[in-house]
Amino acid sequence: MTKLSIIAFDGTRHELEVQTGSTVMENAVRNSVPGIEAECGGACACATCHVYIDEAWTAAVGAPEAMEEDMLDFAYDVRPTSRLSCQIKMSDALDGLVVHVPERQA
Ligand code: FES
Repeated sequence: MTKLSIIAFDGTRHELEVQTGSTVMENAVRNSVPGIEAECGGACACATCHVYIDEAWTAAVGAPEAMEEDMLDFAYDVRPTSRLSCQIKMSDALDGLVVHVPERQA
């Protein structure tokens, strides 16, 4: 198990204990975190699971793959820290990860 914090747009902090190997999106949906729609179910085909990685975690999370980067073009208010949460798998290296939900999805 690893710790994952998802900060909703209204500032509510969702502190979760999650399975290693699960994605940030799966955990957001499972715990009814508002603002993560995930319309395609994690296929990297909708950009409605957009999150901002907390500055302290950007290096550990790393950069998106080409396919994710293309899909991010369809997200709302994309920033350098933007990622699609269905493409981030929890691991021991990401224990304590913090992500922020944007104002809205595309
Ligand atoms: S759930 Fe559709 S791109 Fe992540």
